[in-house]
Amino acid sequence: MNHKDTIYRSTLDGPSGKFQFDEKVAKVFDDMAVRSVPHYRYQQELVAKLACHFHQPGTAIVDLGCATGNTFMELLRFPMDDARFIGVDASQAMLDQAKAKCPKEVEFVNSGLEDVDIKDASVVIMLYTLQFLPFSSRTHILKKIYDSLPPKGCLILCEKLKPASSDMKSLFEKVYEGFKEGNDYSSLEIAQKKKALKDVLTPATMEENLNFLSKASFEDVEIFFKALHFCGFLAVKRPRNKRPRDDERKNRGKNGAGEGIRTLDFNLGKVALYH
Ligand SMILES: C[S@@+](CC[C@H](N)C(=O)[O-])C[C@H]1O[C@@H](n2cnc3c(N)ncnc32)[C@H](O)[C@@H]1O
Repeated sequence: MNHKDTIYRSTLDGPSGKFQFDEKVAKVFDDMAVRSVPHYRYQQELVAKLACHFHQPGTAIVDLGCATGNTFMELLRFPMDDARFIGVDASQAMLDQAKAKCPKEVEFVNSGLEDVDIKDASVVIMLYTLQFLPFSSRTHILKKIYDSLPPKGCLILCEKLKPASSDMKSLFEKVYEGFKEGNDYSSLEIAQKKKALKDVLTPATMEENLNFLSKASFEDVEIFFKALHFCGFLAVKRPRNKRPRDDERKNRGKNGAGEGIRTLDFNLGKVALYH
């Protein structure tokens, strides 16, 4: 059972006061996610629809940083042909919650993303997890995912972004704090969690994220969700014989950002950029 998140109601504890995915967080994580991530449930729904579209029969759907298994619960609502579900997370406490919630067909692996071997997956999901890894290893992890995917397989990535300018950063943070206050977090709770997450969650800008994806060889990248600094990227591995078109080549950004971005066709109803 998930409890209300009151972790930061009183002053920070622990020697460093740094945020960790420990037992205390695991017990309240679902409540924390819904109250802290704009449109958390809607994002899960979009991710499940996209995963369903890209899943290739007989392959796995792997969720890296699966936390308490919410994405699997959403995925399992959709009919899928011969799918295996594998969740990976470094926190045993989070996996214990996931195991208690998900049906037995979902397999869980307790491992750091740095060490995990991804096999037989046509869809890899990584929601709000890359942001916890050092910048220096992000491209490496994304490249490992790219190399593991078959042609037309995809990575569905959600990240909290660092807005490119300090003015936008202040504005987005102010609006975001209003969102959290509206969800019954006090100013003290908001300030303490922000302090605890400092240097633990290190967001990259939109351009940096596109650059990580581009360096990892993903050529077809589309934004499928964005609200303030919360963003969903859909990155598809191209069929081997499909080279960039001339007009796509012209659109390449200076650092590789924006390379090969195009619109994908969905058969799943309208996918809104903003919700
Ligand atoms: C914000 S939560 C992910 C939320 C989840 N994907 C969802 O949509 O509900 C981040 C998760 O990543 C895990 N994590 C953080 N760093 C990790 C790493 N290096 N390797 C594996 N898991 C990691 C944490 O234990 C935590 O469960």
